[in-house]
Amino acid sequence: MDDVIEGMPSDEPDQRSDGVGQVPLGPVAIGIDFGGSGIKGAAVDTGTGRLVSERVRIKTPDPSTPEACLAVMVRLVERIEAQLGTSTPLPVGVGVPSVIIDGVSKTAANIDRGWLDYPIAQALADALGRPVVAINDADAAGIAEMRFGAGAERRGTVIVLTLGTGTGSAIFFDGHLLPNAELGHMEIRGRDAEKRSAAAARIRRGLSWKAWAADLDEHLQHIERLFSPRLFIIGGGVSKNADKFLPRLTVRAEVVPATLRNEAGIVGAAIAAVEQAAEAARPSTTAAASEGGARPAPRRRQRAAASAPSGT
Ligand code: BGC
Repeated sequence: MDDVIEGMPSDEPDQRSDGVGQVPLGPVAIGIDFGGSGIKGAAVDTGTGRLVSERVRIKTPDPSTPEACLAVMVRLVERIEAQLGTSTPLPVGVGVPSVIIDGVSKTAANIDRGWLDYPIAQALADALGRPVVAINDADAAGIAEMRFGAGAERRGTVIVLTLGTGTGSAIFFDGHLLPNAELGHMEIRGRDAEKRSAAAARIRRGLSWKAWAADLDEHLQHIERLFSPRLFIIGGGVSKNADKFLPRLTVRAEVVPATLRNEAGIVGAAIAAVEQAAEAARPSTTAAASEGGARPAPRRRQRAAASAPSGT
């Protein structure tokens, strides 16, 4: 437990945890954001996007094998629920830096290769004994920004980019998500665009903000040529330094910093969990049609199937 940091707001002002102690306005779920340096989680009032528990962060294990990360996620959920004093298991959503199809992680660009074809939703559901929804981490952050942040009420094509260890992307049209857009892996100058546009690339290459902004701009230009978005929302830790690079960008589209900062991934994963549960409860719709692109929790389906013959 020595690597647990609680009530995180040490690294930057925690703007949205003021829901702690307040009566939630919507369903509460736990959101987990699996990042390159930390795995973070909190309970979220999905009606307001506010955190209703402290944010808990545990260092990402190295190597970041699924088993090691899973153990961290279980600890996060236990600590959050202990803090809330709840005996009812809350729905859980997890954002993973990978393409996620039907709860299975399909790529592993910046994480351990054990994540290739790993059934994260099922494994975490088994470990926690409840349904779990897994989605791409940038999709989660995008869902939160479109609901409660810089993209609220914005129509047309909006692209959310998260600049961190890698470059994540989420594409929305009229608020609807096209899941698993991996724009960080577009090829520019013969290599993955994220190798130059991610926040980690600036540090790794020792670049000035100006030099890095030029690389980011080139990535945005390529995206703009393909998708002509009305708006780019730039998230990740760098969004708090937006004044250092946004004025240097030359794309036609409007570009704004994300407003939920490092909580977007947590909030979006929690929203996905709640919406997926609602979707699964509606008999006439399929989970694939859900706005968040989250998939049904396999465990829940299994339980339903298992209980059917006994008539329970
Ligand atoms: C991964 C994406 C992820 C992004 C941000 C990329 O390397 O391929 O799935 O969204 O990093 O974490």
